[in-house]
Amino acid sequence: MIKTRMTDLFGIQHPIMLAGMNWISTPQIVAAVSNAGGLGTLAAASLSPENTRKNIREIREMTDKPIMINQPLVRATAKENIQVAIEEKVPFINYSLGKPWFIDQVHAYGGKVVGTIAIAKHATNAVKLGADALVVTGHEAAAHGADATSLILVPLVASMVKVPLIAAGGFCDGRGLAAALALGASGISMGTRFILTEESTVHQNFKQLCLEATEQDTLYSNVFDGMPGRALKSAMSEKMMGGDSLTLLRAIPNALKIKKVLKQNWSQFMATAWSMMFGEGQNAIQMARMATGAVRHQKAIYEGDTREGFMYAGQAIGAIHDLPNVKDLIERIIAEAEAVLLKAPDSVIGRPKNRNITNT
Ligand SMILES: Cc1cc2nc3c(=O)[nH]c(=O)nc-3n(C[C@H](O)[C@H](O)[C@H](O)COP(=O)(O)O)c2cc1C
Repeated sequence: MIKTRMTDLFGIQHPIMLAGMNWISTPQIVAAVSNAGGLGTLAAASLSPENTRKNIREIREMTDKPIMINQPLVRATAKENIQVAIEEKVPFINYSLGKPWFIDQVHAYGGKVVGTIAIAKHATNAVKLGADALVVTGHEAAAHGADATSLILVPLVASMVKVPLIAAGGFCDGRGLAAALALGASGISMGTRFILTEESTVHQNFKQLCLEATEQDTLYSNVFDGMPGRALKSAMSEKMMGGDSLTLLRAIPNALKIKKVLKQNWSQFMATAWSMMFGEGQNAIQMARMATGAVRHQKAIYEGDTREGFMYAGQAIGAIHDLPNVKDLIERIIAEAEAVLLKAPDSVIGRPKNRNITNT
């Protein structure tokens, strides 16, 4: 049993969170993680508001344990989805990629807000805005880590803010959990590790590619969805790295497919397209990459198309060699971390308390 500020804040048994992963963190695996004593997080990035509500209710049919919802704020239906989460009184809301406007509303019903950051100075801003905890994402992570690795970012942020930190990016076992605690975090968030479980709905072909991959087999670039991110090396991700002169042209049918998934009408769709093309820090190429990336991502995850699909994955793939169920995985990580923490003093020659330590 490892009790930390993270387990206290969320009222959970183990300091392990399922990362919000677009298309992947669906009700079944969210409920499995929460039922196993971790914190299951529903990914709402590509959900319409109707489906967000449906997914929350589906999860509640499967578990009465605490759950969280993840929403990247740059996404088309972010405002509506957050509103649904508030109406449904989801106890924990995790935002990424944007500035939250809803913290007071969540606090009003006793909920908590968890910000995701990948750059140290954003941690201070998030806490100033009222975030109750932070997910700190290192460069090793699948999808959108920035340049600093977890080893640098977690202790740096721990020295800057007082809220509980959840370390993300490269964590997949008990050594990682023990290390995260030593770095100043109160627990870990795992994406790639949970992709490789029985409950994950990722197509077997991509699970197999991940199992065969080494820690060298990821690519970090902005070609996948317009923002710097990390994906599994595959035929398509390597092709995307080589450049795609038809990006803008291809984006049109792909954007229309996304409109359908999000159940947007034409005026909502045009408003999204406009803000993505001309909004702060956005441009047409980025929008085109996001639309095309989303379609290719679905081809990987749902269809297992290893030629046309690509999938985000973190460097942890090199350290993952099995497909356990979620419960066994969480129990194994906790047992490993306990063993590492108990043995830690043995790795120091001579107990620190028995020695004169001079801080140089
Ligand atoms: C397929 C995929 C989709 C993701 N989608 C999201 C998302 O919608 N929102 C988000 O905040 N992070 C997203 N992430 C990032 C994860 O939340 C998490 O930060 C990352 O997986 C942690 O690194 P790890 O994979 O090394 O555990 C995604 C990651 C993957 C693999």
